[in-house]
Amino acid sequence: MSRERWNEVDDYIRTMLVGEDDALRAAVLDSAAAGLPAIAVSPAQGKLLHLIARVHRAAAILELGTLGGYSTIWLARALPEDGRLVTLELDPGYARLAGANIERAGVGELVQQRVGPALAGMQALIAEGAGPFDLIFIDADKPTTPDYFACGLQLVRPGGLIITDNVVRGGALADADSGDPRVEGMRGLHELIAAEPRVSATTIQTVGAKGYDGFTLALVDGGA
Ligand SMILES: C[S@@+](CC[C@H](N)C(=O)[O-])C[C@H]1O[C@@H](n2cnc3c(N)ncnc32)[C@H](O)[C@@H]1O
Repeated sequence: MSRERWNEVDDYIRTMLVGEDDALRAAVLDSAAAGLPAIAVSPAQGKLLHLIARVHRAAAILELGTLGGYSTIWLARALPEDGRLVTLELDPGYARLAGANIERAGVGELVQQRVGPALAGMQALIAEGAGPFDLIFIDADKPTTPDYFACGLQLVRPGGLIITDNVVRGGALADADSGDPRVEGMRGLHELIAAEPRVSATTIQTVGAKGYDGFTLALVDGGA
């Protein structure tokens, strides 16, 4: 099956089901125009995050890796009126653009952006007692993912979810000798979860506009 076919099917799904509005489309277009890398979740994946947050009745969400705010908007739109989303981003320029995209999408009141390394941001949230969060979306630099997950265990509520993106990495997840720190990060995540009795998880492989990849969905029974 070709990548072109995956793109056609993703386009069909986007047209038929996803319901991307002008603000979401503009977030992608403005991000591209500003030279941000095209590494946001796809429309279908954004909608999946939104649906999971709604099914889970998430009122407090933590996101790692804002980029241009595309996934932030999908997640924030799942929140109740008094909900909140904290999103952590290393790059101040990306965060500025994301802020404009988030405002235009009408969810600025719900979103708190923090700029800096995500691990330090998580440690600050722990120190502030800013948790617990109902849902954590890990989508920042990939080698640090096990540390993000371990920190997330201190910030998520019992019964909360941690979703981690880009874990399959074109199939390299199964390659013990990959040597790629991003793959090693995702294998470290799986090892950590496998040894953690509080977590029940699975990883789903995906194909589509973003190639062959996948995400891990983890339910934390005894979190913060
Ligand atoms: C895959 S992109 C996020 C995509 C975004 N979640 C979306 O789907 O719209 C990863 C982001 O993580 C940011 N990042 C990289 N290293 C980071 C770090 N140490 N702390 C926080 N953010 C980081 C990058 O600048 C980039 O914006």
